[in-house]
Amino acid sequence: MMKEKLAAIFSEQFPKSSDLEFLLSRDKPRELQEIFEFADQARKQFMGEGILLRGLVEFSNHCRNSCFYCGLNKNNQELERYRLGKEEILSCVEKLNSCGIKTVVLQSGEEDGLDPLWLKSVIEAIKAEFEIAITLSVGERTKEEYKIWKDAGANRYLLKIETSNKELYGSLHSGMSFENRLRCLRDLRALGYQVGCGNMIGLKGQTVKTLAEDILFFKENNFDMIGIGPFIPHPQTRLASQKKGEVELTLKVLALTRIVTKNAHLPATTALGSLEEDFRIKGLKAGANVLMPNFTPLKYKKLYEIYPGKRCISEPVGACAFCMEELAHSVGRYIDYSRGDSLKL
Ligand code: 5AD
Ligand code: FES
Repeated sequence: MMKEKLAAIFSEQFPKSSDLEFLLSRDKPRELQEIFEFADQARKQFMGEGILLRGLVEFSNHCRNSCFYCGLNKNNQELERYRLGKEEILSCVEKLNSCGIKTVVLQSGEEDGLDPLWLKSVIEAIKAEFEIAITLSVGERTKEEYKIWKDAGANRYLLKIETSNKELYGSLHSGMSFENRLRCLRDLRALGYQVGCGNMIGLKGQTVKTLAEDILFFKENNFDMIGIGPFIPHPQTRLASQKKGEVELTLKVLALTRIVTKNAHLPATTALGSLEEDFRIKGLKAGANVLMPNFTPLKYKKLYEIYPGKRCISEPVGACAFCMEELAHSVGRYIDYSRGDSLKL
């Protein structure tokens, strides 16, 4: 039964939601193992043994939104806000570049005051000095802004859908619209960005059905990258008292996403590494092929508190780069220091 369902979702152009729901509902260790092994095999077939690196620079924690799950939400008065200047960002890029990393992810809260021309100048400065791919992750913006940054040299963009279920999405955000999120994803694609999406696992109201829909949403949109992580409650948010997402369920969604999407880049997310132990290792064995070491300067790292218990916040800049080698070796793989562009191009 398991084997047939796994083979079906792997080979079908349009996998059945019911098959995904069946697989997501498996809970015996032996069954989970079978799912993870199938995903690991697919990862090997489509992505090989190399693990790609993306150096993360969290350049501002200002945010205009009030997402109910996120510690950066504008109602969190207790959070000290910061913004890196252009020179500070360039020095982070210099560090990750010297570690051999060839992608920088510039991430921030959805900052109201973000000047598109300032970000353009940052992109141009990075491109002038380094041979490196740039991924942006600065939220919902106008198509004009996305275009300015693309023209300046940005290559990729991350914007997670968080959940593909419109109602559930509505219950997690106020003053935001699901349609606008979809509009952004469409615009980014039309402008020629490599587009990353993703979701959170363990949200209240989420079911195996909505998770199956998420996986089908990833497949239909043919995303280049998909980040999947457990929800972790943050005390200064509306969802403070909710349960965190389960590791097993997160790994199942990751594994099934690998099987269904085949050659999308899938990170073992920082959130997955921030639970009781570093479950990124399990992620790497269940379909993931990317790691995202943090290159935010030490004094700001702890202020980028999307969720509590985020790993590596006291390690100095660059520590993560070494750590990556160890992680890779611990799963019998190696770090691939190439750019790691989309395989969907
Ligand atoms: N727990 C886990 N992940 C979270 N994110 C935001 N808040 C949380 C949380 N409380 C994730 C979202 C977002 C990414 C930057 O961090 O998926 O897209
Ligand atoms: Fe950051 Fe290990 S990944 S120190």
